[in-house]
Amino acid sequence: MAERRSSIHGQWSSKFVFILAATGSAVGLGNIWKFPYITGDNGGGAFVLVYLLCILVIGIPIMMAEVMLGRRGRQSPINTMATLAREAGASPYWKWIGWMGVIAGFLILSYYSVIAGWALAYVFRAASGAFTGVGGEEVQGMFSRLVSDPERLLAWHTLFMVMTTVVVARGVRGGLEKAVRILMPLLFAILVILVGYAMNTGHFEQGLQFLFRPDFGKLSADGVLVAMGHAFFTLSLGMGAIMVYGSYLPEKASIAGTTLTIALLDTLVAILAAVAIFPIVFANGLEPGAGPGLIFQTMPIAFGQMPGGILFGTLFFMLLVFAAWTSAISLIEPAVAWLVENHGYRRFTAAMLVGGLSWCLGLLTVFSFNLLENFMPLGFLGAFHDKTFFALFDYVTANIMLPLGGLLIAIFAGWALKREHSVDELRLGDGLVYRSWYFLIRYVTPVAVGLVFLDITGLLDIGGLLGFLFQGPWQA
Ligand code: PFF
Repeated sequence: MAERRSSIHGQWSSKFVFILAATGSAVGLGNIWKFPYITGDNGGGAFVLVYLLCILVIGIPIMMAEVMLGRRGRQSPINTMATLAREAGASPYWKWIGWMGVIAGFLILSYYSVIAGWALAYVFRAASGAFTGVGGEEVQGMFSRLVSDPERLLAWHTLFMVMTTVVVARGVRGGLEKAVRILMPLLFAILVILVGYAMNTGHFEQGLQFLFRPDFGKLSADGVLVAMGHAFFTLSLGMGAIMVYGSYLPEKASIAGTTLTIALLDTLVAILAAVAIFPIVFANGLEPGAGPGLIFQTMPIAFGQMPGGILFGTLFFMLLVFAAWTSAISLIEPAVAWLVENHGYRRFTAAMLVGGLSWCLGLLTVFSFNLLENFMPLGFLGAFHDKTFFALFDYVTANIMLPLGGLLIAIFAGWALKREHSVDELRLGDGLVYRSWYFLIRYVTPVAVGLVFLDITGLLDIGGLLGFLFQGPWQA
């Protein structure tokens, strides 16, 4: 057994706090804002099924690997990878996984903060009673008035980035622990209330069918890639966020148990959000494929009609901001930890630097909805011809960088790291659970990610294949 390292940044006070923090990182805009709208964009059921499969065979094994590597290395992802590669006698280039993660986190935060800004703006709209009695058209008007105004978006983006930077500057654990403990269950409760509302719209069944009856004819190759990319995004994988949180995990905590809890909670929140939203979409004649504005154009209708709507609406958007906040923090933690370790920066300076740079880059997302809404920076490349800066940052990070990072992490954990080291760190013994994980991370996970990448080149048709498996044999 190798000697145990300890992190210079401190440790979570218990396994429970790690679960809270990692769930805080995983549950965010991805679950409540992104999952419903990409599900709507990609035709529903078949997309949801591929997403769930990806969580199971790709997300969970990689999350275990990230936490394990993090705890073993006990440093920022860049240094953790460098140390573990050296220890395993592997190439020093493995540390580039850490670098790619830092870049991905920085890019994601730049637009994440702008969208979280929308949620902040909606807290005040909800509280002022602006949603009372509104219909589909008014809600759409309200949303487009917000996003077409660069000054307002800029103000909210700035506020959110300041909130994030301040928490990271003070150390990730501080007040976060207490807040997550109360606010996460509250978010959950409000989603359940919304599902209750959705049940009474008269379109609940239609919503459920849209979400859970797969029609593979509606799933494009790009849809398969988006579903896999979202599995990474929603679990905060492939960029070192979970790895850095793992580096603060106490020695004795079980990695498999904590990972399963986090993945389960995250998936539950996403499904609840979608189950609440789609019946409202259908009941009000809205478009499931409305794009990034979907929740901002549906939820207000529900709050405008339900008893206590002002209170629930305000609370909902506050909790959404909070969920986004706890995720945003984890997006810059890898970079901040590295600056502290390698350059002797104080946390405060490091957080200001990373937050400030990300804020600047966020201007491009602010303008993607107004001044630059018709500017497609990579318009000359077929696949990106219709993507604004915002859409491009989202697509490249979630669908390319995170899966690539995750693929490399799986290969490192399964092939480069010595087997006895993963046995030692996972503390599962060498029984069935360990062996299943080892088999998944060595073969199944990398092959699955590889196949999805192959699918997008047109050499393979995963949608068609799954359609055949799920519908062919037993549907007349
Ligand atoms: N998991 C977060 C969400 O679903 O909103 C987003 C995210 C956080 C992605 C941290 C990646 C990350 F490293």
